[in-house]
Amino acid sequence: MKVLIVGSGGREHAIAAAVAKSKKVEEIYCAPGNAGIAQIAGCVPIGAMEFDRIVAFAKEKAIDLVIVGMDDPLVGGLVDALEEAGIRAFGPRKNAAVLEGSKAFAKELMKKYHIPTAAYEIFSDAQEALEYLHTKAKFPVVLKADGLALGKGVLICSTLQEAEEGVCSIMTEQKFGSAGNRMVIEEFLTGREVSVLSFVDGKTIRIMSSAQDHKRALDGDQGPNTGGMGNFSPSPFYTKEVDEYCRKYIYQATVDAMAAEGRPFQGVIFFGLMLTPDGPRVLEYNARFGDPEAQVVLPRMKNDIIDVCNACIDGTLDRLELEFEDNAAVCVVLASEGYPVKYEKGFPITGLERFDGKQDYFCFHAGTKLDADKKTILTNGGRVLGITALGATLSEARKKAYEATEWVDFKNKYMRHDIGKAIEEA
Ligand code: AMP
Ligand code: GLY
Repeated sequence: MKVLIVGSGGREHAIAAAVAKSKKVEEIYCAPGNAGIAQIAGCVPIGAMEFDRIVAFAKEKAIDLVIVGMDDPLVGGLVDALEEAGIRAFGPRKNAAVLEGSKAFAKELMKKYHIPTAAYEIFSDAQEALEYLHTKAKFPVVLKADGLALGKGVLICSTLQEAEEGVCSIMTEQKFGSAGNRMVIEEFLTGREVSVLSFVDGKTIRIMSSAQDHKRALDGDQGPNTGGMGNFSPSPFYTKEVDEYCRKYIYQATVDAMAAEGRPFQGVIFFGLMLTPDGPRVLEYNARFGDPEAQVVLPRMKNDIIDVCNACIDGTLDRLELEFEDNAAVCVVLASEGYPVKYEKGFPITGLERFDGKQDYFCFHAGTKLDADKKTILTNGGRVLGITALGATLSEARKKAYEATEWVDFKNKYMRHDIGKAIEEA
């Protein structure tokens, strides 16, 4: 088989590594990819939103399967464009990717189908949102831009003044662009967060091992929200009871709701859950693998990812069980100092070869590129590398991951030091 992966981050590197393990696969391509992905796939300089060029490339190379990793092309309808051209594609169509593409849609769906989530109101007028804040809101309150905003369109506001400023930045100043044409104002929930990824074939859902992200930029969950600074899998807080509750009230209910709405979902649903004192609640849905969640979950999956993708496309997921290693993984993101606000890039990265041939260690590239000399690898983004290690236990994986963060270096290298610390305290 020839497989094309669309995207350029650590998630796509982890997908490419999983695809490379499949005996069914002969050639892997990635559009546009990065310097790490280029070591296992042919990277082509086509942007993830250049649908015509992706379709043309897939035809030219007779690609058997396209795996779309990123949210933007999914929400924009890349899977539809590929299918129209007769190309097999893994990922939700546009009408289903809206589960991630519009937070208002997701909230309305959950309300209609009684899927547990935070109480909320939707606004398409800044004045009405401000009015609501003055009259009805309890603080802290959560503001969410409706559309995609690189995981940064959520503001938690402790005071009325902060919330007023938030409404202005989202709706009036459009800090997140058209994502802020509408917004959700919702109840602030407390508890531990868990990420649960699943494969879905339109009807059947299969749950992957759980993970826990660290979204804030600084140690101790301080600083601004990021795309994710590191995570671990499985989450010890995702207990059997939590799993049972979610299976009963959330997972299948979401898949059935999408089908009932005439939007059958095929691909990956990522459930962002908050384990509140009143039970698990859905914070958000994503229509794709998480990043860095994919970097801790996929290395632990025993199944051939191609079999699973095919089952999702063919609607035969009911015939397949997912299997995970009875181990643990921790991923620490090495970022550029200043991420997610302001940072420099273009610095050489040293020490990458230390990962060569090491079984339990992975260095997934997020923002990297090859220098013009075609030899040196340079930093090329806020999140630069995802250092993942496997271990028999979470503590062991954590120790190994932090050791491996020392193997590589680049100017302005920054990481959190408390990824998975909660495990040791649990
Ligand atoms: P989201 O992109 O919806 O996952 O939101 C980003 C982050 O904001 C989440 O991972 C949570 O940490 C936080 N968050 C979102 N919604 C809420 C909520 N209703 N209550 C408390 N925190 C929230
Ligand atoms: N790590 C969170 C996300 O991928 O959205």
